[in-house]
Amino acid sequence: MKRISILGLGYIGLPTAILAAQAGYEVCGYDIDQERVKQINLGNPVIFEPEISDRLWKVLQTGSFKAHPELQYADCFIIAVPTPFKEGNRADLSYVFQAGETITKRLMPGNVVILESTVPVGTTEQLAQYIEKHSGLKLGKDFFVAHAPERVLPGKIFKELVDNDRVIGGICQQACNLTQLFYSKFVKGVVHITDDKSAEMVKLIENASRDVQIALANQISGMCQTANLDPYHIIELANKHPRVKLLSPTCGVGGHCIAVDPWFLIETFPEQTKLLQMARAINDQKPLTVIKQVLEKAAELQKNNTTRPKVFVMGLAFKPDVDDIRQSPALQIASALHAKTDVLEIKVYDHNVPLNMLHKYNFDIASDVWRGIDWADVVLVLVKHKEFSLMHQDVFCGKVVIDSCGLLYDMQTRQSRSVLEGATKTDTIFWKTGVMKDLV
Ligand SMILES: NC(=O)c1ccc[n+]([C@@H]2O[C@H](COP(=O)([O-])OP(=O)(O)OC[C@H]3O[C@@H](n4cnc5c(N)ncnc54)[C@H](O)[C@@H]3O)[C@@H](O)[C@H]2O)c1
Repeated sequence: MKRISILGLGYIGLPTAILAAQAGYEVCGYDIDQERVKQINLGNPVIFEPEISDRLWKVLQTGSFKAHPELQYADCFIIAVPTPFKEGNRADLSYVFQAGETITKRLMPGNVVILESTVPVGTTEQLAQYIEKHSGLKLGKDFFVAHAPERVLPGKIFKELVDNDRVIGGICQQACNLTQLFYSKFVKGVVHITDDKSAEMVKLIENASRDVQIALANQISGMCQTANLDPYHIIELANKHPRVKLLSPTCGVGGHCIAVDPWFLIETFPEQTKLLQMARAINDQKPLTVIKQVLEKAAELQKNNTTRPKVFVMGLAFKPDVDDIRQSPALQIASALHAKTDVLEIKVYDHNVPLNMLHKYNFDIASDVWRGIDWADVVLVLVKHKEFSLMHQDVFCGKVVIDSCGLLYDMQTRQSRSVLEGATKTDTIFWKTGVMKDLV
């Protein structure tokens, strides 16, 4: 196996292409977005991911990787195209089958097709049959198909592509063998071999499990708010139990995976997914709860004032330390508040999200986080980017802070700890910071 063609040069496809090229393969990238192809060949990765620019530049220089406007012949085809949902929360597999159709025009005997995109159970088999029908080649004899779902964390993709264990689900043994052979050049994690449907199921339940855990954290946050308790403090203490591992509340669940993939299970197994349906409803409700809380606070502030309260939004990405705003609850909240200019003024800030991705929202964007906080009456913290966590809590003095991601708790506990050398009680000076804190 020497030559690899990767279909889809986004968050998953491009890093995979670069790593495969660095591992010694001759890698041909292909994307339907011609501008993306052009930019990538100019050394612009288009997406934000640590190390990606340097690594892209190196593989372009050595000639081991190039992006192409058309799919190239190869020994192995890797599909890393989007799998969003469409109306009715049903999986939109049009990109996957479009990629399959493109492959039929280049498929040669001996080739392997690896589907990395996250898909509903049964899709890999349907795709394999589709390619067989349209290529005229025999599945399992002339060509081989496997599902090898991706489970990397944006922000750590190059490390996780190498270190994570992988599940490979082949339609036949030869598909597993060839797929394992491909990854063996750069994956150091354990490769677990199974069948295609099991691999699809494993990937989907991984993300559904995260969704359910976040829903639980969000319910804890709701209960704590009613009881006037700090959910981050409660969760920290509960996690001292050796077998409890609660996640943190968030302003909602977004992105391309956790907010989407549970629907692929709900669609296929409507009767056996009541818990997943409830988790989706809870997590989808959370941004609305945050919006309501900000509007209530704004109304309260306006009572004693002639001017509209100024709200500064910290963070727009769908999670910390990424530039990705797909299905971002923070963006949903900021947009909803932006539409309420009759009752409040709003400025936003997210150093990770490129300005051109925000043009269409017409936000007033703060030039930096300090000026934004200084300007505001209410600071709405939506995403705990690491740069925000490094700030000192004193910057919020005199402000109303609505914290939906535990940034203040982190700051206060960390800074309290450093003040009280060796202290283990995180709440010792917790209430003495002069910051009026609202938690959602
Ligand atoms: N982003 C993540 O963190 C992550 C993690 C695990 C799994 N996944 C899964 O990986 C898949 C890809 O996700 P992503 O985040 O890389 O998406 P992305 O949107 O960043 O990139 C997809 C790319 O595919 C291109 N494309 C669409 N149709 C195509 C076609 N027919 N032929 C060639 N190119 C095509 C698009 O132009 C785009 O550049 C999805 O199924 C996603 O659920 C993503």
